[in-house]
Amino acid sequence: MELNLPPDYHDILDYVLIEPEALQSRIKELGQEISDHYEGKPGLILVGILKGSTLFLTDLMRQVATPHAIDFMDVSSYGAGVRASDGDVRILMDLHTTIENRHVLIVEDIIDSGHTINKVLRLLDARSPASLQVCALLDKTERREIDVPIAFRGFAIPNVFVFGYGLDIDEYYRNLPFIGVVKPGIVITDSVST
Ligand code: PRP
Repeated sequence: MELNLPPDYHDILDYVLIEPEALQSRIKELGQEISDHYEGKPGLILVGILKGSTLFLTDLMRQVATPHAIDFMDVSSYGAGVRASDGDVRILMDLHTTIENRHVLIVEDIIDSGHTINKVLRLLDARSPASLQVCALLDKTERREIDVPIAFRGFAIPNVFVFGYGLDIDEYYRNLPFIGVVKPGIVITDSVST
């Protein structure tokens, strides 16, 4: 199958919601909060939820002074082309690390309905970690369907469709250094989906 290039991001960007400088400045603060909270606690592990959290995790970990490991889980909540979680959350790839007696901090790019993080929390809690907390860059509170505890939160955002800085549109645009809002009515075809 022949693939077409996706549109230039300028053609789908309505406006920039969070500038790169604001992202990095807040991530620095989050790193300080996390460092303070886990100071003196051995066995910290940051768990990134693929794929949206990748940029956030790699920037955040550079701001966390507490010695820590990283690991990843791949969890799918949205079907290809679907823009809302329906609560049907699938674990596509589990951790490589045993987390019993470790301090686990789950790192997410965005919490929307809450179903994804709720499922991950229940799964990891059953493995008897020393502690289990959530760090989310973006919190779309208006969309919440299930209550989830967020210990470290970057930004509360309105109910708009965002992309960039790890968040995709049909797998593209994760590399953009800002959080942007998609123009209303944009549909992207010839996508690469997983
Ligand atoms: C997104 C995001 C969260 C989840 C949040 O992941 O990264 O994991 O959806 O939605 P929820 O709160 O409604 O469950 P997605 O499944 O789009 O995968 P991706 O990170 O690979 O883009």
